[in-house]
Amino acid sequence: MNTRSFARSLMVLLVVLMVQFLSASTGHSDRVKEFDRSGRLVVVEKPANEMAAAYDIKNRPAEKVFPVPRPPFSEGIFPCTQCHKYMKPNPVQRTLTEYHTEIVLHHAEGQRWCTDCHNLVDRDKLRLVSGELIDFTESYRLCGQCHGDKFRDWKVGIHGKRTGNWNGDKQYLLCVHCHNPHDPKFKALKPLPPPVRPGTARH
Ligand code: HEC
Ligand code: HEC
Ligand code: HEC
Ligand code: HEC
Repeated sequence: MNTRSFARSLMVLLVVLMVQFLSASTGHSDRVKEFDRSGRLVVVEKPANEMAAAYDIKNRPAEKVFPVPRPPFSEGIFPCTQCHKYMKPNPVQRTLTEYHTEIVLHHAEGQRWCTDCHNLVDRDKLRLVSGELIDFTESYRLCGQCHGDKFRDWKVGIHGKRTGNWNGDKQYLLCVHCHNPHDPKFKALKPLPPPVRPGTARH
């Protein structure tokens, strides 16, 4: 073998290595636990392109919907769009002076503003970080984004309150039935009204 053809094959080898290196560094493969056809647990190496879909927040399985009582809105405030559909949304962080003046954020307020939770355009919806819009009856999902441990406990009935038959339908109180979403540090700010006793109801 002469020096020229040796140099050429060395070049080819280098190019092949470069291509290999570049294609390998475009993503990360991952080890995934799976069951094989005979039911044995096996660990398989999955290339990055196969894993991408699983890591996409949009492809996560839908959260189960939990039955809840009516959200604890103040009288007449909902639907929000009764006013907001006539107003230009204002995303600017500011002290509200014309309305909602009783709402002062004391909930990680340094890092966020109303519109991180309330959807700017359709005000009747809450907004998750993924951009997904949810109803107020699912506000536990909003809270669960940051308070994952409490959300897990709530789902299985350890945190919060769950009522119903042990083997039948259960109803869950929303986080906001007990915690003020704007100022949650004081506990139980919004207790549910007591049931009306028979005979005392006004006519
Ligand atoms: C941490 C998320 C979060 C932030 C930040 C937030 N809110 Fe809310 N807000 C909620 C949730 C959840 C409810 C629903 C409570 C319920 O179901 O009754 C709510 C309820 C409301 C209501 C109805 C209150 C009532 O009396 O029934 C208004 C009005 C409101 N928010 C305005 C605001 C304004 C204005 C800001 C900013 C100053 C803000 N929110 C910031 C989560 C948030
Ligand atoms: C009676 C009318 C009315 C209703 C009902 C109402 N709002 Fe508002 N809202 C206003 C007004 C007026 C402002 C502007 C206040 C200011 O700039 O000082 C405002 C401002 C806001 C803001 C600040 C951002 C912006 O676009 O100015 C948020 C967030 C908000 N409202 C959320 C809600 C939510 C959530 C509801 C329903 C639960 C609701 N509002 C129901 C009148 C209303
Ligand atoms: C974006 C992240 C985020 C979301 C969404 C969120 N929280 Fe929080 N929450 C925090 C942080 C950070 C703190 C601690 C700092 C503070 O209170 O200012 C906190 C504090 C709290 C506390 C007080 C804990 C204590 O030490 O007393 C409660 C209760 C609470 N949140 C409930 C809720 C509820 C209910 C919701 C849904 C309406 C919610 N949070 C949504 C980030 C979040
Ligand atoms: C039935 C009322 C109730 C409901 C519903 C409820 N909580 Fe609580 N939560 C409490 C009480 C009472 C405390 C204080 C005692 C404790 O730590 O258990 C508390 C404490 C907390 C704290 C502070 C814990 C700490 O370590 O200081 C967070 C955060 C919180 N709750 C989040 C949530 C979230 C998120 C949900 C909904 C998924 C929820 N809660 C539902 C009553 C409730």
